Amino acid sequence: MSDFALRVRDLQKTYNNGKIALQSVNLDVPAGAFYALLGPNGAGKSTLINILADIVLPGGGSVRMFGHDMFSDRAWCKRRMGVVPQEVAFDPFFNPREVLKITSGMFGCKPDMAWIDELLGRLELSEHGEKNTRQLSGGMRRRLLVAQALVHKPPLVILDEPTAGVDVELRRRLWDFMRELNAGGTTILLTTHYLEEAEELCDHVTIVDGGKVVADRSMRELMREVAGRYLWLSYGEGFALSEADIATLSEFQPRSNGKGVCLTLRHATDDSSSSFHEAYSAAVARFGPPVDAGVRQEDLEDVFIRLTHEESTAESVGQEGKGA
Ligand SMILES: Nc1ncnc2c1ncn2[C@@H]1O[C@H](COP(=O)(O)OP(=O)(O)O)[C@@H](O)[C@H]1O
Ligand SMILES: [Mg+2]
Repeated sequence: MSDFALRVRDLQKTYNNGKIALQSVNLDVPAGAFYALLGPNGAGKSTLINILADIVLPGGGSVRMFGHDMFSDRAWCKRRMGVVPQEVAFDPFFNPREVLKITSGMFGCKPDMAWIDELLGRLELSEHGEKNTRQLSGGMRRRLLVAQALVHKPPLVILDEPTAGVDVELRRRLWDFMRELNAGGTTILLTTHYLEEAEELCDHVTIVDGGKVVADRSMRELMREVAGRYLWLSYGEGFALSEADIATLSEFQPRSNGKGVCLTLRHATDDSSSSFHEAYSAAVARFGPPVDAGVRQEDLEDVFIRLTHEESTAESVGQEGKGA
C-alpha cells in the first residue's frame, strides 16, 4: 500500500453558475494521519470532499487513494473510504439498525452485527436503533451518518463538519472515538469550525481559502513556525485605536478589541527581546502605562484568521516542493 491515503493534484472545480470553488488544490494525506482541512465558509472544503465522495464531478486534476487512481478505480476506493458529507439526505423508511445493515450490503460486506451494535453504542444511538429515522433529531441523524461511514471499517474516514451543532460532551466523546480509530491505524480527514479541537486532535493541517491552499503544515510546525507572538496591553473598557495610532504603530500591526491593544512581535526565531521592548515603549509613548500587559502565543484560531484575512497579500505557506 502507498504511504499516502490521499494524493490530490491540481484539483479544480468550477460550478455551472461560473463559481470557481477549487483553483488548483494539492493535498497529501499520509496514511495514518489525523488531518484537518480548514477554511472559512465558501473556501471549497465541501467541494473537495464531495469530489472524493463522488457527489460532485471534478473539473480537472487527479486523486490517488492508497496508490489507486480514484477516478478510474472508483469501486476499489469506495470500499476503503467512509465519508460523512455536510449535507444530509436520509431514506426515512428504515430504522438506524436497518440503515447500517443496508449500508454494509452497499459496500459489499456481510453485516457485522457486533460492530453495528458497537457503532450504535459509541455514537449513542443504542436506544434509538429501532426508531424510524424520521423520528431522530438532527444531531442523531448526523451520528447515524458517522456510523454509516464506519460500518465497513474503512481505512480512510472523511468527515465534513461532523460535530456542527453537537453539544460539547457528545463532541468530546465522538472525538475520543475518532482518536481510538486513528490509533488503530485509520486515516482521518476532517473539516471543522472548532479550531481549538482541531489543534488538539490533528497532526496535520491544510488551510484553504478562496479555493486555494494558503497553508499546509504539520500542526506542530504550523504552531512553531507560523504562529507568532504578540504583546497585549490593557487600557480598560472603551479603548479605541484611531487612524493616527494605527499609522504610528504600523510596524507592530496593532489590533484592538475595545479594552486595549495587541502588538505583533517579531517572529520567535528573530531577536524577539528587542522587539518586545520596542513594542512596549512604543505603546507607552503613545497611550501611557497600561493597566496590565503580557505576551501571548497565537493559537490556531489566530493563525487561521491572519492567514485567511491576508489572502491577497499572503504568500502560500509550505506549498514548495510539491510536484504537480
Ligand atoms: N452546487 C453548487 N453550485 C454553485 N456553487 C456552489 C455549489 N456548491 C458550492 N458552491 C460555491 O462554491 C464555493 C465553495 O463552497 P463549499 O465547497 O461548500 O465551501 P466550504 O465547504 O469550504 O464552505 C462557495 O462559493 C459556494 O457558494
Ligand atoms: Mg462545507
